[in-house]
Amino acid sequence: MLNTPRLNTPGLSTQSMSDRFLKACRRESTDATPIWLMRQAGRYMAEYRALRSTSTMLERVHTPELAAEITMQPIHAFDFDAAIIFSDILPPLKGMGLPLEFVGGVGPRLDTPVRSRADIDRLATPPMAEIMAGTLEAIRLVKRELEPKKLPLIGFSGAPFTLASYAIEGGGSKSYPHVKGLMYSDPQAWDALMSKLCDVVIDYLTEQAHAGADALQLFDSWAGAVGSLDYERFILPYTKRVLDAVAATGVPLINFSTATAGHLDVVASAGGDVIGIDFRLPLDEAWEQIGSDKAIQGNLDPVTLLAPWTELKKYVDDVLSRANGRPGHIFNVGHGIIPETPVDNVRRLVDYVHEQTAR
Ligand code: CP3
Repeated sequence: MLNTPRLNTPGLSTQSMSDRFLKACRRESTDATPIWLMRQAGRYMAEYRALRSTSTMLERVHTPELAAEITMQPIHAFDFDAAIIFSDILPPLKGMGLPLEFVGGVGPRLDTPVRSRADIDRLATPPMAEIMAGTLEAIRLVKRELEPKKLPLIGFSGAPFTLASYAIEGGGSKSYPHVKGLMYSDPQAWDALMSKLCDVVIDYLTEQAHAGADALQLFDSWAGAVGSLDYERFILPYTKRVLDAVAATGVPLINFSTATAGHLDVVASAGGDVIGIDFRLPLDEAWEQIGSDKAIQGNLDPVTLLAPWTELKKYVDDVLSRANGRPGHIFNVGHGIIPETPVDNVRRLVDYVHEQTAR
């Protein structure tokens, strides 16, 4: 049995929760616009940097008490409307058999990238209840800690395409030569890889809902690597497969991608109750592409948070005026906040969004 609220049953299981965020996912009106920020737990906070000097990234991800503590750091410091479980999108790939390292100052590295059909066939699809047991336990711990605040918890996974891109390129890439090489030269191998990733992602997200996650976000951060035709051919069917399957959990789903501003209607057709957008398109234009039957999450450029408040405020006002108080807007950045972000600007942003939208 799921202990998570079901969609389309407002006021039933969500009654006791501070449900601004969950209501906005369902496009219901709220007392103010909800706000949370991608990467709200991270290096811009001194509390995180302190833990970082005594543990590795993978230790922080797989130790439930550490992950729970980091998840709660921004909840204690700011008036966010949701928590997001501290983890990363890449550890499931390690469980599939790809050695993963987080190299300080460089980022994640996978040293034995997937390049051939044999590499794909060798990939394991172990139960995520085992591979990501630490994250699932962290979700249970955080749910208990959030109880007095009645705040919802967001779980997440990388989307099949972004995970495939990391697995194939082995790290960051400018032009994705190996990813596109595989897509164009061996569509069957592409399908085999994406199908394995779909199985893992569906299993992982479902486990997170069972552990208590109140909403789930799919991060397709690299979806902008391809144009709309390739998105339709090589990404859409798999993202749709995941979102259709995970809809069975009943928790709201957020479909986030970056650099897809030219074909957000196609992205939205993959599914999700909420479409997460980056900062490259004005929010009202993006919402028009997405359609009024979906909620929208975004879309402040995270780097504006480095600006003096008078300047930052202009960008925040622009997002708010384009959302125009319509039910179904969740305020967020268009990509994760960066380590240089001043905490005072985060505090001011959160309070300002609540004040300006109070109704
Ligand atoms: O949003 C949250 O606060 C939840 C936690 C979270 C992290 N990574 C923590 C993290 C989430 C949802 C992610 C997602 C993630 N990870 C994505 C998709 C979103 C995006 O940012 O595009 C991607 C592509 C990754 C892969 C990844 N992990 C990269 C490229 C890096 C290095 C770059 C960087 O910002 O450091 C990471 C490391 C990482 N993931 C850190 C954190 C807090 C930094 C770890 C540290 O150095 O202490």
